[in-house]
Amino acid sequence: MTGSGPRRVVVAGGTGLVGQSLVRSLLDQDAQVTVLTRNPARAELPAAAHAHGWEDLPALLDGADAVINLAGEGIADQRWSLARKAAIRDSRILATRRLVEAMKDCRQPPGALVNASAIGYYGARDRTPVDEAAPQGVGFLPEVCQAWEAEAAAASAIGVRVARIRIGVVLARDGGALPKMALPVRLWLGCKLGSGAQGLSWIHLDDLVAMFLEAARNPAWEGPFNGTAPEPLGNEAFTDLLARRLRRPLLPVPGALTAAAAKLALGEMATALLLQGAYVVPTRAQALGFGYQFPTAVSALEDLL
Ligand SMILES: NC(=O)c1ccc[n+]([C@@H]2O[C@H](COP(=O)([O-])OP(=O)(O)OC[C@H]3O[C@@H](n4cnc5c(N)ncnc54)[C@H](OP(=O)(O)O)[C@@H]3O)[C@@H](O)[C@H]2O)c1
Repeated sequence: MTGSGPRRVVVAGGTGLVGQSLVRSLLDQDAQVTVLTRNPARAELPAAAHAHGWEDLPALLDGADAVINLAGEGIADQRWSLARKAAIRDSRILATRRLVEAMKDCRQPPGALVNASAIGYYGARDRTPVDEAAPQGVGFLPEVCQAWEAEAAAASAIGVRVARIRIGVVLARDGGALPKMALPVRLWLGCKLGSGAQGLSWIHLDDLVAMFLEAARNPAWEGPFNGTAPEPLGNEAFTDLLARRLRRPLLPVPGALTAAAAKLALGEMATALLLQGAYVVPTRAQALGFGYQFPTAVSALEDLL
């Protein structure tokens, strides 16, 4: 552990895929970690982490070195009914607003707010690489991400440094997208989805956690950052690497058929999350010298599968 990491950190939504790994890394660095959760009694966290409800926030946040905000209803957990879309949006916006409002009541506001966002900000794009300078896309996810980021950015008015991490598809051994993508391939049923050309901008969980730690620690991290690896791939190229790693063939199913099946099974969510994409590159993190442990999809898949 470096002596320069944040000492006292509050992690909102720290019980999920990213949060659990982040909390372990913070504890490894001897940070004092409080996790904000809706259910402190049921939170599965290392004993050294302190689970706390969403009450008494000003006292909890007062004088913290960093607040890391990951809270939000799962984007891909259920079909997108109108109610589900409202929950996806409101959970992020209201949780972030609550944190920032509480910061305003602190005697000593936190040093930094590192807020999750998503590459959904950019919407559907062609193969041209997209970096942080690109404008917001069009549709539900771009609107959610824009509003979520705006809530976080409001903390800068009270002198809090705000970094917004536009997270790509997080690849992890257990949980997240990879086990779901690997399953049909393992079952000899793997194939590209839709045209296969849509961008799949991914990041290894360990690299994402390192990015959040760096953003919490390093005052140069301010504004938007793409939380992706430097090698985004198309859906077909990624699926092909997955199949090679698992030593399985891919089925030559026509793209129109897989697209229709995905839409039938998942509705609007299929188009936004699977059939469209963007080739998102981490220009700002790399400009600040951030180094990746798993810069290529081959290295990430070798580690995880
Ligand atoms: N994983 C990815 O591939 C990916 C990609 C892009 C962006 N992101 C974003 O990064 C963040 C962390 O991702 P993750 O994969 O770790 O998510 P996750 O596993 O779903 O965890 C998110 C946490 O948010 C909390 N939460 C859920 N609904 C909430 C609500 N209504 N109000 C307050 N808190 C709520 C939950 O904690 P409690 O139940 O303990 O309250 C949950 O553990 C998310 O906001 C996600 O959208 C993730």
